[in-house]
Amino acid sequence: MSKAPVRVAVTGAAGQIGYALLFRIASGEMLGKDQPVILQLLEIPDEKAQNALKGVIMELEDCAFPLLAGIEAHADPMTAFKDTDYALLVGARPRGPGMERADLLAANAQIFTAQGKALNAVASRNVKVLVVGNPANTNAYIAMKSAPDLPAKNFTAMLRLDHNRAASQLAAKTGTKVGDIRKLTVWGNHSPTMYADYRFATVNGESIKDKINDQVWNKDVFLPTVGKRGAAIIAARGLSSAASAANAAIDHMRDWALGSGGEWVTMGVPSNGEYGIPAGIVFGFPVTTANGEYKIVEGLEIDAFSQECIDKTLAELQGEQDGVKHLL
Ligand code: NAD
Ligand code: LMR
Repeated sequence: MSKAPVRVAVTGAAGQIGYALLFRIASGEMLGKDQPVILQLLEIPDEKAQNALKGVIMELEDCAFPLLAGIEAHADPMTAFKDTDYALLVGARPRGPGMERADLLAANAQIFTAQGKALNAVASRNVKVLVVGNPANTNAYIAMKSAPDLPAKNFTAMLRLDHNRAASQLAAKTGTKVGDIRKLTVWGNHSPTMYADYRFATVNGESIKDKINDQVWNKDVFLPTVGKRGAAIIAARGLSSAASAANAAIDHMRDWALGSGGEWVTMGVPSNGEYGIPAGIVFGFPVTTANGEYKIVEGLEIDAFSQECIDKTLAELQGEQDGVKHLL
């Protein structure tokens, strides 16, 4: 017997990430090749954006995806999020050259207050929320705080692009296959302060740290390359990453919904006090996922260098949070 469709809301649906994301959700890459979906697409009311959304919908129809059980266009989060099981909050302003993601807070924070309130009012009580719009951690925090009737644990931020970038750099450095890398994580904020940590990582069972054995490369090459990859893409393309961001969003939601098979993945999730991160801060952690739930990997040793990195990214997040207090 075929499964009942689930509702997937995507904001910023006519934007660049939306264009790289929707077709993959509709083809079953996110929730499984046996899971029908109804897409509930949100764009700003502006005529140009709504027209662009109409065009994207025509293309979705023209793909004749067997799993696409319905498509809705919305201009109001109160209708777009009605009964939604999954919400991918992508719609927000991207940064341009010379900006940091935190510079977007003033422009984007209010979007996430309004959308958090709408999710609180009308979404499924089990809705799984992924915030992609930058600055992603703090926007997820704002949405979570604006939705007091929903479980806080269901609000997550995207650190998966950073995780995937780190894996790719490590595979290149060690001459191994990216798919063979395990136990990698990225702690903290989706910003240049993030701490991509391969101390526990393995490739085909061997320690990557031992294979590389070069702390100078870690500090002076690896961490800045991963941390500033978004800016490097903007400098090269003139636009922020889109296909790789959409791919990471698919990975994040797929693993959350369908399980990571015991493997570590990185998600930005509200802390419960793990590793000394104050409760409620949306922080990149190593997690495993099963049965629709994530679990932070606990008990990892944090050495002095790692602690310094974690403290730095935490301080930045606390600063961002202070800056949005007035909205909450
Ligand atoms: P884009 O400008 O191409 O598209 C954004 C879309 O969102 C536009 O179509 C716009 O009309 C829409 N939008 C704006 N406000 C909205 C609202 N209140 N409700 C619904 N839709 C709204 O931008 P993009 O390249 O798709 O990037 C979207 C966001 O994702 C940016 O903030 C970008 O910085 C961020 N991003 C995050 C990551 C990550 O790893 N977390 C990676 C890449 C991009
Ligand atoms: C990225 O990491 O590519 C995105 O967050 C976009 C950006 O502004 O860097």
